[in-house]
Amino acid sequence: MAAPVVRDAIHSAGPAPWRLRLTFGLDLTLLISICALQTVRFTGLILHEWLGLAMVGLVLAHLLLAWSWIATQSRRFLTLQPIRARVNYLLNLCLFGAVTAVIFSGVLISQKAIPALTGRNPAHEMDLRWDGLHNQFSAIVLLLAGFHLAINWEWALAAAQTIFRRFLDRPR
Ligand code: HEM
Repeated sequence: MAAPVVRDAIHSAGPAPWRLRLTFGLDLTLLISICALQTVRFTGLILHEWLGLAMVGLVLAHLLLAWSWIATQSRRFLTLQPIRARVNYLLNLCLFGAVTAVIFSGVLISQKAIPALTGRNPAHEMDLRWDGLHNQFSAIVLLLAGFHLAINWEWALAAAQTIFRRFLDRPR
């Protein structure tokens, strides 16, 4: 079911509210960034690391915009809840854990951004254990982000239709 903010926007004739546009734009940026981070060759290592660090801000903003959902669902989790709501909550929790883990491991193997920020020389040899974990956490993030998108697909579709309605409704 679409969230109230999307439902209200769909039934109003005016432009999409700024909060909906902000949330949708942020989510799209997060999705594209996660895909772009999957191979270092696509961006180069410097951009990979800075984009990876920028994910901290993007994820925090995403959580802030979803805060009322997070607070409500956290309170309700221990009460009688439909299975879908529980699965969704646990999925989001795992996704948050996996994103934290991939950024943390990235910081530990950093060759460019962290040395530039701290003024220290990069390690001569990368810690292969953390490097391997970084890759594995990244694969988990990709998988869980796919499930996250699938479970919120109706919201994403309704938001896109609302935001791009002006272009879609234009007479040809
Ligand atoms: C959500 C955030 C991130 C994701 C999804 C991600 C994902 C990945 C993936 C999939 C690889 C392997 C790519 C390949 O083999 O071509 C990789 C490599 C790497 N990442 Fe990240 N990364 C993230 C954040 C970071 C951050 C914040 C840093 C450091 C500040 C970082 C540093 C590195 C380094 C140094 C490598 C190269 C490892 C090597 O040469 O074996 N990453 N990352």
